[in-house]
Amino acid sequence: MKSKASSPAKVILFGEHFVVYGVKAILCAINKRITVTAETIKENKISIKSNIGNLELEPNKENLEIDSPLKPFYYLANKLIKNQNTGIRIKVESDIPLGVGLGSSSACCVAGAAAISRLFKKTSKEEILELAIEAEKTIFENTSGADCTVCTYGGIMEYDKKNGFNKIGSEPNFHLVIANSKIEHSTKLIVENVKQFKEKNEEKFSTLCDKESKLIEDILELLKNNNIVEIGQRINENQEYLETIGVSNEKLRMMIKIGQDKSFGAKITGAGGGGCIFALTNESNLEQTMNQFKNENYDCFSVKIDFKGLDTF
Ligand code: MEV
Repeated sequence: MKSKASSPAKVILFGEHFVVYGVKAILCAINKRITVTAETIKENKISIKSNIGNLELEPNKENLEIDSPLKPFYYLANKLIKNQNTGIRIKVESDIPLGVGLGSSSACCVAGAAAISRLFKKTSKEEILELAIEAEKTIFENTSGADCTVCTYGGIMEYDKKNGFNKIGSEPNFHLVIANSKIEHSTKLIVENVKQFKEKNEEKFSTLCDKESKLIEDILELLKNNNIVEIGQRINENQEYLETIGVSNEKLRMMIKIGQDKSFGAKITGAGGGGCIFALTNESNLEQTMNQFKNENYDCFSVKIDFKGLDTF
């Protein structure tokens, strides 16, 4: 038996970090994907092959014993082959740069949950999302669930921890230019740093949460009207809040400046501390923005919104 699934990467347009504390975020899936193939095998083992390494273990190991970025796959396989009398082989192929704030680990969890679970039964998207968030928690316990949700359903959406997601119907016509700082970051660690910032600055943090909520209050209207100039300004404002909570650094600031020069707005996406930034563009300034980054020797590429979300084969 073989089963295959693919899931898109994501960009957080507004609200990373604040979403962990209940504020609404706006996210979109992007047209870069991870594909997971799962196959039952006779041997009593869980074998995972990927471009970031391999992992091969017997079933029923304690999660705490496993020190590998592939741990979520092991968790899913181990859970789902219980009482099935089978081993499992998993292959991961990705065109998402890994560990740079574009949701590679969430996309792995979503595509992994879909491919593995569908070997045994026709799981729904809701069930897959639940499994994916469980798997993501093996590497990052405090996840808001936002990344796995957008990787599952695709498109552009509002998300908050209490009410879940609401897909945004409009299809804004923008291109995002993504530039990679090549600084590795750990989402778990940066979320912990923000927690410390919050504990030391309760009032300031609470004001920032209010400001973030206000910032995106009428974003649906702006998206519907394709008001890219105003959206860009708000992206720049959101970046200032991220600066205040300490998730930026010298290199990211330099990149954001380059991004903001020709585009409508630029900010960190994801946890920060490294990883990627994005700049909001349309046909009028896409090429100029790309050239700005290329002239300064930054790795960059442009993406569009992925409206498909999780795909199973
Ligand atoms: C990471 O992509 C986004 C954070 O807000 C964490 C989360 O929402 O789980 C930093």
